[in-house]
Amino acid sequence: MSESSAALELDDIQSGVLSPRPTPYAATYLCFRIDDAAPGRELMRRVSAVVPSAADQVSPLGQTWVSVALTCHGLRALGVPRASLDTFAWEFRQGMAARATALGDDGASHPGNWEAPLGTGQVHVVLTAVAPDRERLEAAVDRARPAYDRLTGVSAIWRQDCYALPTETEHFGYRDGVSHPAVEGSPIAGSNPLEAPLKAGEFVLGYRDESGGTQLPQPQVLGRNGSYAVFRKLHQDVAAFRRYLRQAATGPEDEELLAAKIMGRWRSGAPLALSPHHDDLALGADPARRNTFAYARDDPAGFTTPAGSHIRRANPRDAAVAGEVRLHRMIRRGAVYGPPLPAGALEDDGADRGLMFAFIGAHPGRQFEFVQSQWMNDSVFFGAGHEKDPVTGAHDGSGGLTIPRRPLRRRLPPPPRFVRTRGGEYCFLPGLRALRWLGDLRT
Ligand code: HEM
Repeated sequence: MSESSAALELDDIQSGVLSPRPTPYAATYLCFRIDDAAPGRELMRRVSAVVPSAADQVSPLGQTWVSVALTCHGLRALGVPRASLDTFAWEFRQGMAARATALGDDGASHPGNWEAPLGTGQVHVVLTAVAPDRERLEAAVDRARPAYDRLTGVSAIWRQDCYALPTETEHFGYRDGVSHPAVEGSPIAGSNPLEAPLKAGEFVLGYRDESGGTQLPQPQVLGRNGSYAVFRKLHQDVAAFRRYLRQAATGPEDEELLAAKIMGRWRSGAPLALSPHHDDLALGADPARRNTFAYARDDPAGFTTPAGSHIRRANPRDAAVAGEVRLHRMIRRGAVYGPPLPAGALEDDGADRGLMFAFIGAHPGRQFEFVQSQWMNDSVFFGAGHEKDPVTGAHDGSGGLTIPRRPLRRRLPPPPRFVRTRGGEYCFLPGLRALRWLGDLRT
């Protein structure tokens, strides 16, 4: 058997790559700068002892699960040679801030307006810790603190706390974390039985992917069983979102219908595809049913789920679009940050709230960047000009949303920008052997 078609080495893959998070949970992102390679390597040695693998049922830190990711600057700060860095994905080497134009990060979302130190080159290591609640998370962070606090030459420079609401909704009020792809050879099932599992090489480096190729940064010990992670702190203007729906709707019932047409799902998570006329709480809560649908046969023109809705753009499934959908699938791990805006409020209270968006995959260019630039910020792929994703698009006063309807389609006015990028980083999630290799690096 060739290496690229070998079984997934789950015991060498970080658990955070393939395993969904527990619900509910609290999470924290901790960013570090490495000023000196030796203590940076020591940090790698220490964290490699607490990062669970995808084969582990129990984390070395009890109920707290940790993953560790490095930016390209971080690999460089540890002394990874240039020849090795050159074998990593081009977008990763550029860094997210340099990709602003492609990602639609302009105006308030421009890297010049990001929250420091994101996008400045100072972020070298991103540790993510996830626990069932804040108390256990805080206890684990306290226990882990000596691992980095006493390392001269390594500084903790940013922290973002996140959590999952017990309702599993994000701030706009929709259930999130519903749709996930299945990965061949992984014990984690996907959520849509109608979608065949994706080749492991779409998400883990060193295995065959959907295009028949294999990505493997060098040396092999560093690249194999790794993946890329895209972290984005996305601010959500909840009041503007609510006002938009209120103004566009003819009444409260219509407001909920428009909310569903924009997302492709009702707030409960029930998809329009399976419940076209009203929300269905039981369906929204049922993991066995709520993602079992496709578009091509019953809804090719989007009369039920508009082609421009968020979930149909983000994953057109079997719908006819330009391109090959299976090359643009994503593993997502979103987490809410900031306090909820009180129910019913239509004015912003100035609080910072949103989503820490995390994408994981082996192809940051043709997966995350493609989806963001072509499917979120354009509509040419399904033949609808330059409308943008109604939820997360980089709106500029043009566009709007076309809702197919008989006898006449309905057009919603151009939305304002509801989601603003506050910063982000492209990272590499090494396998466990690679973490130890980084710890022992001598250059
Ligand atoms: C603050 C910004 C965002 C919010 C509030 C948001 C919200 C949601 C919600 C509520 C769902 C439906 C639940 C689910 O399928 O898990 C969803 C699905 C999804 N979103 Fe987002 N999202 C945001 C940004 C993004 C971005 C930037 C991307 C990609 C570049 C993205 C990609 C996806 C994908 C791939 C799905 C699954 C679609 C499917 O398989 O049916 N989202 N999102």
